[in-house]
Amino acid sequence: LPRKHQAGLELRLYQGFWLPDNWVAGTVVFQRRFAPRPDDVILASYPKCGTTWLKALAFATMTRDAYPAPAQHPLLRLNPHDCIPFLDEIFADGQEAKLEKLPSPRLMNTHMPYTLLPESVTGAAVAGCKVAYVCRDPKDMVVSLWHFLRRRQPDLPFAELFEHVCDGAVAVGPIWDHVLTYWHASVARPDRVLFLKYEDLLLDTGKHVRRLAEFMGRPFSSAEESAGAVEAVVELCSFEKMKGLEVNKKGSSGAYHAMPRDAFFRKGVAGDWVNHMTPEMATRLDEVVRDKFRGTGLLAAP
Ligand code: A3P
Repeated sequence: LPRKHQAGLELRLYQGFWLPDNWVAGTVVFQRRFAPRPDDVILASYPKCGTTWLKALAFATMTRDAYPAPAQHPLLRLNPHDCIPFLDEIFADGQEAKLEKLPSPRLMNTHMPYTLLPESVTGAAVAGCKVAYVCRDPKDMVVSLWHFLRRRQPDLPFAELFEHVCDGAVAVGPIWDHVLTYWHASVARPDRVLFLKYEDLLLDTGKHVRRLAEFMGRPFSSAEESAGAVEAVVELCSFEKMKGLEVNKKGSSGAYHAMPRDAFFRKGVAGDWVNHMTPEMATRLDEVVRDKFRGTGLLAAP
């Protein structure tokens, strides 16, 4: 497989995407052996596009009956990555037996593009297993990724990472192809693939939590709506709340074990790219993305 060394990572081109070298073997096992259950929900994302937030929102939504008193909720004690297993890492580490022991309904997450998910998940014959995807403006993704990688590589130049992103050669890149795999799947099978945008979540979190709940088969009842259950989920998972929790200020998590937990809560806004990119860089990336998305309906999607 073609190889590249970028921003401290050894990458291999596998089925059209640049995977971290140490994920390739695990991805093949994931593709061949993963056994979905009909009520599984897989949370998917390109890195730095809202994974942690989506994990928190989905987990809080699915467990709301078990923890009616918000002060008891595990998300106050556990980082979202410790509540939901990260498939790519589990398979890279040969830990897949852990997945069989999880009670249903299982929530799991992946950074794999839709086309690299197992046939057992994406195949037409499979009943059930759902996938919720979150995307983000690639300009803000680059900025977020740069700050994240700098925790390990303090001297990584922003311009260098930007070039890698534009070349598509960053982990699970190219980002535009990643987004398109899920966009097309969500258009073809809206009951099975939910497509969310980070920026929409910021604008009206409650609206998209309702969509997510409905999609996962756990809609909020009118009694719950009257009791403020949606607002409680939104508040519990808000950036300020999560960033302020002691658990998220120190240590590292089972998933993404190489990174400190506080690296997942930086600024939590849209548009921070203006503080890092020249207008020329922004235009260049926007044009690449616009070209790739043209004619797909994604740019016009609400
Ligand atoms: P920034 O670096 O722009 O602040 P991921 O979870 O996919 O690694 O993405 C991390 C990005 O999501 C970071 O963006 C982080 O601050 C932001 N984020 C994490 N938790 C969030 C939350 N509860 N609400 C909004 N944004 C959040």
